[in-house]
Amino acid sequence: MASTNPGVKAAGKCPVSAEHANLLATASLKDPEISAYPDEYYAAMRLGDPVHYDAKIGAYLVSRYEDLKTVFRDPVTFSAGVGFQMIYAQGFLDEFKEILERDGGGFFPDAIMSDPPYHTQIRRLMDKAFTAHRVKTLEPAITALVVDMIEKLAAKGACDAVKDFAQPMTIAIICEQLGFDQFDADKVERWSHAVVQQISAMQTREKMIENAKEMCDLQHYLIARYREREAEPREDMTSDLVHAVTEDGTRLTFKETVSLIRATMIAGNETTATALTNLFFLLATDKEQADLLRSNCR
Ligand code: HEM
Repeated sequence: MASTNPGVKAAGKCPVSAEHANLLATASLKDPEISAYPDEYYAAMRLGDPVHYDAKIGAYLVSRYEDLKTVFRDPVTFSAGVGFQMIYAQGFLDEFKEILERDGGGFFPDAIMSDPPYHTQIRRLMDKAFTAHRVKTLEPAITALVVDMIEKLAAKGACDAVKDFAQPMTIAIICEQLGFDQFDADKVERWSHAVVQQISAMQTREKMIENAKEMCDLQHYLIARYREREAEPREDMTSDLVHAVTEDGTRLTFKETVSLIRATMIAGNETTATALTNLFFLLATDKEQADLLRSNCR
């Protein structure tokens, strides 16, 4: 594969190798072999076409930090709401909505995937669940949960860092934060996958129906938790969202609240589990970094 050596650029030669140029012209992030190992595709974009139109996905992919800052700072030109709706359950939205309304207790649009001023109001209410007080109340249980998990794995001497630690730990922590005592980690993982698939533009109709069924199951679980916390608030983020009110008396609607509990559940586990997986991969493949970490551990 092509070198990313800045010297090439300085010498005025085209920084994009034939392979990179070909990759951009023919491949898509939708191709399973690319989405499984996307680094070369990302490098090809950054070098050759930083704002790249991926025809199979039907969207522009922005690959450079500076450009991303521009996008995130201009919600008028780059609308999260419009962009999210364009890609959500792409190609099957009506049928998907119908299944959720018929079997899932309703269709709950993602209130957080919106633009100011509505997004600003939603954030003000959502922030009621991300307070220093809430972090303080959650800390002891989260620490105990992680220590218990590490001690059990240490006693075994070896483990699958993803399946035995990164995924179960983040699911357990997000359920602890949301106050979900009774949860099935395999179900939470399937639910998270089903929700994330709605913004992948990669699902077939069969997969959409499978994912819609999972999301119906998820919604019944969340609605039951909502009703419980409505009747009896507790020291958890679900209660914070159900009872959130701003100084001017604004509250979340039932649908907004269920969508935000769902967003917290999903946004909090897939991402963190992936970040932990990358950490373990780095520690397992980069001795210098592993030694640096070990030398800094008390
Ligand atoms: C390594 C871990 C994480 C990464 C890399 C990450 C990354 C991101 C990114 C890139 C966004 C912006 C999305 C956008 O604007 O389109 C975002 C938004 C969000 N994340 Fe995370 N996240 C992580 C962990 C978490 C956790 C643990 C939670 C909840 C407990 C969480 C909850 C949220 C929420 C609610 C939003 C929407 C914020 C808004 O639109 O105002 N995230 N996250």
